[in-house]
Amino acid sequence: MHHKTQVGIVGAGPAGLMLGHLLHLNGIDSVIVENRSREYVIDRVRAGVLEQGTVDLLHAMGVGARLRQEGLRHDGVFISFLEQRHHINFGELTGGKAITVYGQNEVVKDLIEARIATSRPLYFEADHVSVDALDSSSPVIRFRHGDVDHELQCDVIAGCDGFHGVCRPSVPAGVLTMYERVYPFGWLGILAEAAPSCDELVYTLHERGFALFSMRSPTITRLYLQVPPDEPIERWSDEAIWQEMLTRMATRDGWKPSVGRIVQKSVTPMRSFVATPMRYGRLFLAGDAAHIVPPTGAKGLNLAASDVLVLARALKAFYENGQTEWLDTYSDVCLRRVWKAQRFSWWMTSTLHRAPDESAFDHQRQIADLDYLTSSRAAMTSLAEQYVGLPAEVSFESAGL
Ligand code: FAD
Ligand code: DHB
Repeated sequence: MHHKTQVGIVGAGPAGLMLGHLLHLNGIDSVIVENRSREYVIDRVRAGVLEQGTVDLLHAMGVGARLRQEGLRHDGVFISFLEQRHHINFGELTGGKAITVYGQNEVVKDLIEARIATSRPLYFEADHVSVDALDSSSPVIRFRHGDVDHELQCDVIAGCDGFHGVCRPSVPAGVLTMYERVYPFGWLGILAEAAPSCDELVYTLHERGFALFSMRSPTITRLYLQVPPDEPIERWSDEAIWQEMLTRMATRDGWKPSVGRIVQKSVTPMRSFVATPMRYGRLFLAGDAAHIVPPTGAKGLNLAASDVLVLARALKAFYENGQTEWLDTYSDVCLRRVWKAQRFSWWMTSTLHRAPDESAFDHQRQIADLDYLTSSRAAMTSLAEQYVGLPAEVSFESAGL
């Protein structure tokens, strides 16, 4: 089957779905091609923290109704070390900004519903997805859906297919420069049926390593633990997970996470990665397809959102008056924000985790870093403005909102 569209989008994660909706709001056609099932994409447990700008963007796009009802607004965060929690107040330090805890799977669910309501095409369970003719004026996406082979001719392809997708590897060798740092640890994450015992997130550095207290709803707690990067999850019984969580997180004032039935657990490795430029010919990479951050700063999903805002602005100008300037500057505009988020995520990660080869000096320096952070208004302001999110590089109006 041969068909045509304006923008072919590979991947129905946050980046692909948000881009599809931004284009729809501007009257631009797109086809989204996803290799997993709808259930898989919605059930995949991942990010939970939305920056103020991401929340504002979802509202401006008209997909924030459930987010407004069910999202948990947090005006601050706790940093914990030497068994004491220290509060950093975002509202006070950033002029009223906040973060919102709302699962990535909820964001994706809302965006899929919005997409389906537009009646624009979204193919799940597409097999053998490939992209071709990227340096021509009509690049192609090929895939098999059910028993039918599809060839989709596009003006532009948006590679929103995540770190393990097909778009980035389809760029000829030597075109992209890759920057990478792999960390000598990973995160073991759990969802537990337990009412969150604290209203805000708690990031902990303990002698035995990093731990993070988060949540998903008034009845579900989300917790993470630093483990070796290739740790088999089978090695951790539920009892062992709780014992380690409690050992690392309990503070001297008697606070600790509430214990409950573990309903999901997995281990994620951690890396920093950037591919530049985020464009080759008529292929534009967005989100995890172009860059990965370690999760400590909670930036990955938010960067996917800011990339597609920049891309939507460029495509709007391209279709409205043939302007290519913003397509040409897409990569540079995104990368300024990407590198600042990379720096912040690397800093949060290296300050809060124990590296296997660290010295006693390194550990004391980490403690001093955290002591300074939690006692200096300047340092707290710096963390707060980055955690709630640095400003987007482009306005919502310029992307047609
Ligand atoms: P993805 O979500 O990876 O979506 C890509 C889509 O493309 C997927 O649906 C995939 O199935 C599809 N795809 C892949 N290959 C193909 C193909 N060949 N053909 C068609 N489709 C394909 N970020 C935050 O901002 N805050 C957090 O708190 C946070 N916490 C995290 C915690 C964990 C444990 C993890 C793992 C990640 C976390 N992140 C966080 C990162 C965040 O989840 C990602 O940055 C985000 O999912 C990126 O969105 P994306 O749309 O670019 O990519
Ligand atoms: C969550 C994930 C993160 O990576 C983070 O830094 C904070 C919270 C979460 O899943 O809730």
